[in-house]
Amino acid sequence: MTNAEIDLDPRALAGRFPPGFAWGFGTSAYQIEGAATEDGRGPSVWDTFARVPGAIADGQTGDVACDHYHRYREDLELMAGIGATTYRFSVSWSRVLPDGTGRVNERGLAFYDRLVDATLAAGLKPILNLFHWDLPQALQDQGGFANPRVIGWFTDYAALVASRLNDRVSDWMTFNEPAVYAILGHADGIHAPGLRDWPTALRVADNQLQAHATASAAIRSEVKDARIGIAFDVNHIAPAADTDRDRRAAAQWSSARDAWYLDPLFGRGYPQLGLEAHRAAGHLEGVELSDPPPGDLDYLGLNFYRRDAVSARSDLAFDWEIGPRPGTEQTQMGWEIAPDGLRDVLLALHREYAPREIVITENGAAYPDTVAVDGRVHDDRRVSYLARHIAAAGEALAAGVPLTGYHVWSLLDNFEWSLGYTRRFGLVHVDYANQRRTLKDSAAWYGRLIAAGR
Ligand code: FCB
Repeated sequence: MTNAEIDLDPRALAGRFPPGFAWGFGTSAYQIEGAATEDGRGPSVWDTFARVPGAIADGQTGDVACDHYHRYREDLELMAGIGATTYRFSVSWSRVLPDGTGRVNERGLAFYDRLVDATLAAGLKPILNLFHWDLPQALQDQGGFANPRVIGWFTDYAALVASRLNDRVSDWMTFNEPAVYAILGHADGIHAPGLRDWPTALRVADNQLQAHATASAAIRSEVKDARIGIAFDVNHIAPAADTDRDRRAAAQWSSARDAWYLDPLFGRGYPQLGLEAHRAAGHLEGVELSDPPPGDLDYLGLNFYRRDAVSARSDLAFDWEIGPRPGTEQTQMGWEIAPDGLRDVLLALHREYAPREIVITENGAAYPDTVAVDGRVHDDRRVSYLARHIAAAGEALAAGVPLTGYHVWSLLDNFEWSLGYTRRFGLVHVDYANQRRTLKDSAAWYGRLIAAGR
């Protein structure tokens, strides 16, 4: 699909989705909350990592971020004003359990009480994500997600939050993008905790799969009629060139990364191709994999951003280059724009795994937005990105994919991990000097889409 072929008129797009389809926003705690040391919050691995010289592009931290901890009411009003029906946010584990386990921080829990109450009062349904990468530092000091004890720590944390909010929150998510956490944080070293060791990354993945199962059981025992999901990022993986070598590399990467989680979650254990690739690359040396239990999933959350083209440098597993194809349209992240990839990923997930429901839990684009002299933010490229992806989601829906919701990443410009504040994903612009929020043109466009669908 090109720009010209897709109708940016939100009314035409809205008609492709059934009434009751959820239109929302996604955010995460460390990226927006700030108040890093307030009301008894303990440090997380991101507080530590952000202080490593050179780790963050602009040398910044999430100490203040969007100051959402104090401005959440205003932010909820913005979402309600746009017309959103759902709000997916995450809880900061070290805000409620400063040491990760044991001592409960009542003031931290009280914040999420207020946040959930305000979300409901704004007419939005909360979707609560328990883990968006900000592991308490106290637990990292004991090995973090590579230590099998994390299964118990995470389960106790899930039970604590669930027991507190069970009367108001029905939609729960255990993890956001567990593969990004495992690989970027433990094999590539570019995210917290900054390790570079594949065997550790695969231990982390194994423990995440175990922890998903035990935490789900804990949530179910606390929350009547809980709906449990996980947000997994599946981008469109494709061979860079139409050669046997690149095709094989793309298949291996997809198996060693995506199917590595999805196959176990859907009851199939680890995938053969991925096992072979990891073994060949030496990633499994000294690793004892468990037989991960099937995931308990009412819905699968899909985070989708781009196409990853895989080009093999040799026949060796993991001797690959992964990125955009040269000359393609890309966002400021250098991510190849691929709405057809979203449609194809949705179709493939439905065909391969048949989840009961799929919810798009993240989709969006970074561009270098500025407030224009007329006081507005003219982010036409983001509108085009969103329109094309929403149209692609509509095609998948028409083809029978049980898609029930779509969440833009993100409400606000925010702390974009190792890129700091240099990338703006929000539909609302944030001036970090004074925390002023300005709705971008894309926010108005999204509002018209939602209104037209009512
Ligand atoms: C996803 C993350 C989210 C945000 C977007 C751009 O991988 O889940 O926090 O950084 O990318």
